[in-house]
Amino acid sequence: NKSEFGLIGLGVMGKSLCRNLAGKGFYISMYNRHVDGKEEDIALTFKKDFPELHTAKAFDKMQAFVHSLQTPRKIMLMVNAGKAVDQVIEEILPFMSTGDIVIDGGNSYYLDTQRRYEYLKEKGISFMGVGVSGGEEGALQGPSLMPGGDPDAYDKIKGYLETISARDPDGNACCSYLGKGGAGHFIKMAHNGVEYSEMQLIAEVYQLLRQGKNMQPDKIADLFEEWCQGELNSYLLEITAKILRRKEGNNWLIDLILDKAANKGTGNWTTVAASQLGIPATVLTSALYSRYISAFKSSREKASALYSPEKLSLELPIVHIKNAYRFARIINHHQGISLLKEASESYAWELDMSEICRIWTNGCIIRSAFIETLVPLLKKEKDILLNAHIAGMLKESYAAITQTVSEAVLGHYPIPCLTAALNYFNSYKEDRSNANMIQAQRDFFGAHGYRKNDDPEGDLHHTNWS
Ligand code: 6PG
Repeated sequence: NKSEFGLIGLGVMGKSLCRNLAGKGFYISMYNRHVDGKEEDIALTFKKDFPELHTAKAFDKMQAFVHSLQTPRKIMLMVNAGKAVDQVIEEILPFMSTGDIVIDGGNSYYLDTQRRYEYLKEKGISFMGVGVSGGEEGALQGPSLMPGGDPDAYDKIKGYLETISARDPDGNACCSYLGKGGAGHFIKMAHNGVEYSEMQLIAEVYQLLRQGKNMQPDKIADLFEEWCQGELNSYLLEITAKILRRKEGNNWLIDLILDKAANKGTGNWTTVAASQLGIPATVLTSALYSRYISAFKSSREKASALYSPEKLSLELPIVHIKNAYRFARIINHHQGISLLKEASESYAWELDMSEICRIWTNGCIIRSAFIETLVPLLKKEKDILLNAHIAGMLKESYAAITQTVSEAVLGHYPIPCLTAALNYFNSYKEDRSNANMIQAQRDFFGAHGYRKNDDPEGDLHHTNWS
């Protein structure tokens, strides 16, 4: 009685997925490499801790693990993105057979996934890159899954993935085949880009309320909970309200946490990919750079002593801040979707934007009421900013974000994402931009040529400027 599904790597996410799979009645094998100094192997200890794992088999020897699986084997890797994935692939390869399927559920770089897909294809093995979102709890209760690779291979694993995933509002699995090669990991990467911006926007709004409106964390938590009752509802806003209520002794825990934001690379990859594909993903780039600036804590401390910044209190009503946040979130999602659309064209993935948003309606970190709004909308609309409903929302909130950004800048608050969203919109809606000046300058110093308004597709003109 061999197992039907194998999982390598019993970190936080791997463990949760094993419990989820076994809890759903699947017969699984679990592998974790032996760690010196541990008396019993990690997989075995883990198995003993959870009753749902009573049918699961635990291993710390790779050959025995691979051989414990029915063919075609289905092995999911939950190891750290990067070299570890290649190492594990090399370790399992000698024991694998033609037709077996390897699934990488880590936050792998999509070009690595593409390369591994080609490499294993030559050896007759299917490689699937599956984005997994939802953190520890999501992996256990039902993550959002973003699979990419061969459709045939997907058919063989979909029974497992679609059973363990979260459900959308209609009760369908938050998992479906999305595209070839590295598509799944690209989509997860773009998800994280949107995630970075959503987090930073909340951080900016929090700072404006805390310092500009002099609100205590629990009052801001009340406000965010109120916002969550309506169209601004999101998982990230919900958890932020919980964060803001937490105390340690007499202090708000948030005040005790060091203000240096870490990252594991996905935001950087998204920024690079957007830049390479010619997509101005300014909100997420600003979110990433905000994390980078935060890392220079000691320089910031010195600069603070030198420039002694004094923040002014904000006069604008809170509802303006709310609407500025609403506005910026729309721009953020638009940029994420634009990135996916461009990648889809570039790599011929034929991505379905509505389906991707459907998968993001539950289980993942960016789940929100707005994502739910996008599912039907993206069935007919290519550019969400040109949709009448969205345009209505943006027009309603435009004065609010303009005033919020203006007052916040005058009050010396750093608001890179709110500003980026507004600037993006102001550039996007210009039928006559200032790029004519760039073209003239390029022609002046480099004779690069320019086109004229009356013949936009026509020949290049050159002026002898000097
Ligand atoms: C998710 C998260 C998850 C994880 C990232 C965060 O969708 O479940 O995105 O993948 O939290 O690793 O990345 P940073 O460490 O870069 O913030």
